Amino acid sequence: MTMTKINIPILDLKAQYQSIATEVEAAVIQVLRSTHYVLGPNLKAFEEESAKFLNSKYAIGCANGSDALYLALLALDVKPGDEVITTPFTYVATAEAITQIGARPVFADIDLETYNICPNALESKITNKTKAIIVVHLYGQACKMNEIMAIAQKHNLKVVEDTAQAFGTKYQDKYAGTIGDIGTYSFYPTKNFSCAGDGGMLTTNNDYLAERLTRIRAHGSSKRYYHDELGVNSRLDEIQAVILRVKLRHINAWNHRRAIIANRYTQTLNQSNHKDFVLHPPKVIGQSNHIYHQYTMRIESEKPSETRDMIKAKLAEQGINTEIYYPLALHMQKLYLDMGHKPEDFPSAYTAAQSVLCLPVYPELKSEHVDYICEALTKL
Ligand SMILES: Cc1ncc(COP(=O)(O)O)c(C=O)c1O
Repeated sequence: MTMTKINIPILDLKAQYQSIATEVEAAVIQVLRSTHYVLGPNLKAFEEESAKFLNSKYAIGCANGSDALYLALLALDVKPGDEVITTPFTYVATAEAITQIGARPVFADIDLETYNICPNALESKITNKTKAIIVVHLYGQACKMNEIMAIAQKHNLKVVEDTAQAFGTKYQDKYAGTIGDIGTYSFYPTKNFSCAGDGGMLTTNNDYLAERLTRIRAHGSSKRYYHDELGVNSRLDEIQAVILRVKLRHINAWNHRRAIIANRYTQTLNQSNHKDFVLHPPKVIGQSNHIYHQYTMRIESEKPSETRDMIKAKLAEQGINTEIYYPLALHMQKLYLDMGHKPEDFPSAYTAAQSVLCLPVYPELKSEHVDYICEALTKL
């Protein structure tokens, strides 16, 4: 029996907007009428509400997730010549912040099953120039933070958690982003917790770092027109803050719905039986939940990237849109070719880039569409 084609985008922002339009529009109109657009009461309230939600002592809004990383490194006094260890399998912004500050990104390979940085690989990269580590909780699952924090303490290193893809993820009894020295967040529209443009945030439990981050996001100023140190202009405006305040009320339910959809995919992939390839569901480690910012399966075959093209095309023929996050690991990006790496320097990151494929996963995805996708996966 042939299936009737249904068009399913990788993300449906309109569906989410429609579900909260009344709340969001009322809140935005209030901001517009107030004419208080920057560093106002909604930012303050959002910072307090998200700090409470994440059980973090402080939350500090900023302009986007890339700035959050840069501000974190500035506040931690990472300087030119320092080395910062990070994953080669992430969005470029993670490493870019290290380069922008003049420090050197040093890549450590991932665990192929979780796509997150491998603690042993990380430890093997430590030198006397290493100042900090940036871990990335990729796709919505936390890194192995116990192991990573133990390594950081042993070697006296600072830890930044890039939580752009993991707002609401828990690692044991703590939220991702609140375990290391500083957590950074992005509210870019495609994120699981997003605003209507660019937005970002930092969390910390450290009084000194909180004060410093608050200062350097606003030109190093603690008092208007008095500048204590070099900073930048990176503020989360009132319209974005008020939208995030509305959405914070829904985030638990949304993350929960993502996990329900993901479980259906995982069951389907576990039962699927294909002749020339294996579809691996994402593996979830014991200490972390997974909020499935992305649902990322991995294709195992003789030629994974060719098999992936074939699967992507077959699903697209049936109206199912998929994405590859990310097709090229950072050590092979033109930007970093001068580091002289070969693909096999980070074999798991290289393999992941050849073989991952993300399926549509968002809270508004209808159950019958999930069924449709599962059926298509079974029949590949
Ligand atoms: C892992 C990761 N880090 C950093 C960023 C940068 O965030 P932004 O786009 O808000 O600058 C993103 C998202 O784009 C991301 O996915």
